[in-house]
Amino acid sequence: MTRKRVAILISGRGSNMAALIEAARAPDYPAEIVGVLSNKAAAPGLGTAAAHGIATASLAQSRFPTRELFEDAMTRVLESWETDYVCLAGFMRILGADFVNRWMGRMINIHPSLLPAYRGLDTHRRALADGVAEHGCTVHFVTPGLDEGPAILQARVPVLPGDTPETLAARVLVEEHRIYPEALRLLATGQARL
Ligand code: GAR
Repeated sequence: MTRKRVAILISGRGSNMAALIEAARAPDYPAEIVGVLSNKAAAPGLGTAAAHGIATASLAQSRFPTRELFEDAMTRVLESWETDYVCLAGFMRILGADFVNRWMGRMINIHPSLLPAYRGLDTHRRALADGVAEHGCTVHFVTPGLDEGPAILQARVPVLPGDTPETLAARVLVEEHRIYPEALRLLATGQARL
């Protein structure tokens, strides 16, 4: 089995990144994590990745005159790692059409809601404000529309009395860490296709 080469894009904590790294340690996992790229040099996830011996890089968008040039630089880093697939894991930048089209079908994202509900930010607070009974997370293909690509896997959690955005986020995060490695497995084996 040739393992697919996967790069992860992060902006912060990197707990989903850590779940992917952990899954990829299993010898029968169909993907290996070859690099972690952050748009924030201070992202704690970079240290976690480096501690696992994984290549890391950071690129600040503010240092590039345009988003296109920033994203071209990201592509050069990803290509230097011979990346087959890209996983967005708490990467908090909207990606331009050129970058998305270049990686279309080979780039997935985890989003903290049951898409198509609650695209965008602040999903847990918005779900609580609406009084929904169920919330959750989605791993989906990245397509040009924000949080619009087809879902690969979803997981549901109940909303409980007394929930705050923080308690709900924590319950959803447990499921994120479970379904993201499973979705990457489906992608890397060709069982999930755009
Ligand atoms: C996760 O909950 C992820 O679903 C969310 O950010 C968090 C990152 O945490 N992503 C988005 O909101 C994307 N729009 P992590 O850095 O610990 O994985």
